[in-house]
Amino acid sequence: MEAKVLRVGFLGFGTVGRGAYKLLTRSPETLTRRCGAVLVPVRALVRDLSKDRGADVPPGFLTTDPAAVLEDPEIDIVIEAMGGVTAALKYSLGALRAGKNVVSANKDLIAEHGQELFAAAESSGADLLFEASVGGGIPIIRPLKQCLVGNHIDEVMGIVNGTTNYILTKMNAGNGGFGAALAEAQRMGYAEADPSSDVDGLDAARKVAILASVAFTSRVTFDHVYREGIAKVTAEDVKYARELGGTIKLLAIAREVDGAVEVRVHPAIIPQTHPLAGVGGVFNAIFVKGDAVGDLMFYGRGAGELPTASAVVGDVVEVARRLVSGNGSGNSGLSCTCYDEKPIRRMNDVHTQFYVRMVVADRPGVLASIASIFGAQRVSIASVIQKRKLENDAELVVVTHPVREGDAQEAIRQLRLLEAVTEVASVIRVEGFATA
Ligand SMILES: NC(=O)c1ccc[n+]([C@@H]2O[C@H](COP(=O)([O-])OP(=O)(O)OC[C@H]3O[C@@H](n4cnc5c(N)ncnc54)[C@H](OP(=O)(O)O)[C@@H]3O)[C@@H](O)[C@H]2O)c1
Repeated sequence: MEAKVLRVGFLGFGTVGRGAYKLLTRSPETLTRRCGAVLVPVRALVRDLSKDRGADVPPGFLTTDPAAVLEDPEIDIVIEAMGGVTAALKYSLGALRAGKNVVSANKDLIAEHGQELFAAAESSGADLLFEASVGGGIPIIRPLKQCLVGNHIDEVMGIVNGTTNYILTKMNAGNGGFGAALAEAQRMGYAEADPSSDVDGLDAARKVAILASVAFTSRVTFDHVYREGIAKVTAEDVKYARELGGTIKLLAIAREVDGAVEVRVHPAIIPQTHPLAGVGGVFNAIFVKGDAVGDLMFYGRGAGELPTASAVVGDVVEVARRLVSGNGSGNSGLSCTCYDEKPIRRMNDVHTQFYVRMVVADRPGVLASIASIFGAQRVSIASVIQKRKLENDAELVVVTHPVREGDAQEAIRQLRLLEAVTEVASVIRVEGFATA
């Protein structure tokens, strides 16, 4: 029997679009054997026709007219790899409403407009798949939706931003402070000239919103995510964390606690023995706890042309298999899986340990007044370590037991007002240590 021909259009033909084109065209017969369809790239929307896209791109393949992709009735699958939100939303909605299946690598779009897009996909019976939007080449969305569907997921915790992980890895290797490590990341091409989306935790927040929605089958958007970046992490903190048996990582954390979803991105000290502690450089990893399966870790390249294209083409083949199986109307059930409406836990109600580094007057009684402020807010102290003797001051590191975030923040606010406290220099959450 002759294989069905499925035509693929591209919205965007930069790093990811071009990578997906390479994978679709390098051995088409193999892909046909794997999905039962001939996948034919037909058109790609770009902004600038004069850019060099490589000799393998046929004449007439590129267009600056969105209608050439969106209104071509022959196109079955659209790869959205253009980035940004406004145009990507308009075009993706256009494609879905026209009954085209959309494969997106765009975390900004999915994290901010998932609901609208999934509703459009639902009503036209099309698929909207988005494996590449989190963790680049790491399979995580489909494993959560398919392989782990028999579990109750308790926790998803990840390193989902390569730029910040590279910076923290360099700092941990003793290569200076945040500024020097960022400058090196920029020199290596791992950080943008304006690094704020990575460094301030925004990129990771979009990804954890998507992960939380999938893991807990309830809509979580970017606005729900508490976020804090890594710019305030100092070389001293990295050193002291190591002395405590830990390492500092920018963590994206999503947990379901008592039926509510907590979702946050911030630097955290994790034990050096935690599986995420060994994830270095630009690599990403996502640690999942399921009630049946136990602990799992997904590790790999979170960005790059071919790793990301690997995830995109996996989604394209998933759609193709459904279309070949004759289930042409009614999507594969993988698009939207937000069946529940779980409340989002307020950050103040989250429980975690804290590392607080302070510069305080070096005189008797200071420790007692600090302890009494913590005590009054029900913040129990696990350890106090005097680090350095400064001129008239001393540097103290306090590590708390797990406490309510709001209580810890109130204690820290009061410490800042205490005459004997010159500076509360760092506040970093501590995750994953066994507590008595
Ligand atoms: N790069 C990665 O490693 C990676 C990893 C995971 C996810 N992603 C996501 O994948 C998406 C694409 O990233 P990328 O790195 O491939 O971006 P990119 O290299 O900048 O490519 C974007 C492409 O979209 C086209 N484009 C952008 N806005 C357009 C508009 N308004 N009209 C028509 N064409 C437009 C550009 O056209 P021109 O070429 O003419 O400028 C370009 O071809 C983003 O959402 C990104 O977050 C990327």
